[in-house]
Amino acid sequence: MTKLRVGVIGGGQLARMMVVPAIELGLEIKVFAEAENSSAAIATTMVGDYTNIDTISEFAKTVDVITFDHEHVPLEVLRELEAKGVSVQPPSRALAFAQNKLDMRKRLSELGLPMPVWAEIRTEQELQEFLTANGGACILKTPIGGYDGKGVRVVRTIQDASDWLTAEGLARVGGSLLAEEKVDFVREVAQLSARRPNGEFRAWPLVQTTQKDGVCAEVICPAPNASNETIAHAAQIAKDVAEGIGVTGVLAVEMFETRDGRLVINELAMRPHNSGHFSIEGSVTSQFEQHLRAVLNLPLGSTEPLGAVAVMVNLLGVDDQNDFVRGFESVLADHPQAKVHTYGKGARKGRKMGHVTVVSNDAEFALAESRATAAALLDA
Ligand SMILES: Nc1ncnc2c1ncn2[C@@H]1O[C@H](COP(=O)(O)OP(=O)(O)O)[C@@H](O)[C@H]1O
Ligand SMILES: [Mg+2]
Repeated sequence: MTKLRVGVIGGGQLARMMVVPAIELGLEIKVFAEAENSSAAIATTMVGDYTNIDTISEFAKTVDVITFDHEHVPLEVLRELEAKGVSVQPPSRALAFAQNKLDMRKRLSELGLPMPVWAEIRTEQELQEFLTANGGACILKTPIGGYDGKGVRVVRTIQDASDWLTAEGLARVGGSLLAEEKVDFVREVAQLSARRPNGEFRAWPLVQTTQKDGVCAEVICPAPNASNETIAHAAQIAKDVAEGIGVTGVLAVEMFETRDGRLVINELAMRPHNSGHFSIEGSVTSQFEQHLRAVLNLPLGSTEPLGAVAVMVNLLGVDDQNDFVRGFESVLADHPQAKVHTYGKGARKGRKMGHVTVVSNDAEFALAESRATAAALLDA
């Protein structure tokens, strides 16, 4: 049998973490990276500009399917690939809703899925009307190009957004902004799932996510004290999203849990996601393996947990120096139950540099040990 070949656009840590299951399954994985020394350098076969259709087309000729480590490849490029007969998974018609938060809100509204109150904002007057109708505060977002809290702002007066509402500011983000009610959530949760082109769908248990300054800091699987009803409801939401917009591969649905127990959708990611890193050690099938299976239309693996609780703590860059290699040896010696992942990225404040996961039948231990290991690496 000839090897199945997966091409990943983007050389970040998500591409890097697809390499291990690709090797295990005996797949060939090729990465199209934006720089020589990317996190996924070990599997990089081409370096170039992912907005250039000619170079991306050359890359596509070397693989059976194209998938992604990020959602920034322009839709025109993906549509051209599809027109040439390249298998792009998730397809451009689905990925469009991960690229543009306004289009996502419009489409999920059509599907009748639960969301915060939202509106498209083009002028200061429209923003003022939204603020007045929603208790004087809102969350304002740039529809495209934001990540890790960049492009998200709490707004109380139109002055808070005056730089975004200039003609130039609006032009940069596609002509309009997305205003959302500031959801009074008790916590944030994420539903991870995967879907094959033939429709097979599997969901992992709902997880609880904690964001610090808009960046994912900690994930607990399953979400503590979630009722069976909530867990089933969340999985159904993900299935409705995946089927409603034709997602293939891994889909993460970020949601808010409200004080009265409702789930409302925050945003979508159509690729392995930070909220699913726990699954590398915490599940029969990791999100990275599942993504490869799904985009190749191979049967999906079990998402059953391998312990009562899995806790994942991110290693976020503290400065330009600490690359989490200093003190590595003593941390590994002191925390043998912890699974330490580093991404081979240069140190930078706030940057996702790695993560730590502890899986255990003892929830308190998993929480304490994962936090202690991450703290020891940060302090080293
Ligand atoms: N409507 C909202 N109400 C309250 N908090 C929000 C809302 N939207 C976003 N946030 C907060 O901001 C964080 C980042 O917003 P998100 O839309 O997920 O942007 P990003 O693309 O940067 O992840 C969320 O994880 C949440 O903590
Ligand atoms: Mg988010």
